[in-house]
Amino acid sequence: MADWSELRERCMNCRSCALCTTRHNVVFGVGNPNADVLFVGEGPGEQEDLKGEPFVGAAGKLLDDMLSIIDLDRSKNCYIANIVKCRPPQNRDPLETEQDACIGYLREQIQLIRPKILVCLGRIAAMRLIREDYRITREHGQWVEKDGIWMTAIYHPSALLRDLSKRPETFDDLISLREKMTELGISPE
Ligand code: URA
Repeated sequence: MADWSELRERCMNCRSCALCTTRHNVVFGVGNPNADVLFVGEGPGEQEDLKGEPFVGAAGKLLDDMLSIIDLDRSKNCYIANIVKCRPPQNRDPLETEQDACIGYLREQIQLIRPKILVCLGRIAAMRLIREDYRITREHGQWVEKDGIWMTAIYHPSALLRDLSKRPETFDDLISLREKMTELGISPE
């Protein structure tokens, strides 16, 4: 199995789909690769593409605030990655072909991180990682164990910026995540 820096290097040089022609940076991921909790979004937006780091725009600020409620911090005790590592132009959803070209990198990240918990941020990640026909409005906050990893999905932070009415449910989902961490013996320290 590849080691982390070899995987990162390979990903940084990837030319497996057309997104490589419009990207400024490959957005590999951020955080502690030894963390027990992994968050997976959809793909980089404009700010992320320019900076080379996931969730650094307005949605990223909200995500950091959400994480801090449950004592998680991207610089300490969790890891954040995306389904696709390069920005889809005009912030469109990543195409199936782009996801197919990129998903191997995430799979290898998951094998190396070996998280106990994986939280999908939004429907695109949930449909790719939990179930093809996942319905985020109905199923967010529910837990499934898959390949030894506890998985759930919460609303994407961008959806929470657009629709404040989704925030109370997301707060409950975050509390459920904190409880799952406790149940699995994961301390945020
Ligand atoms: N939205 C995502 O899904 N991922 C990012 O990194 C930024 C915005």
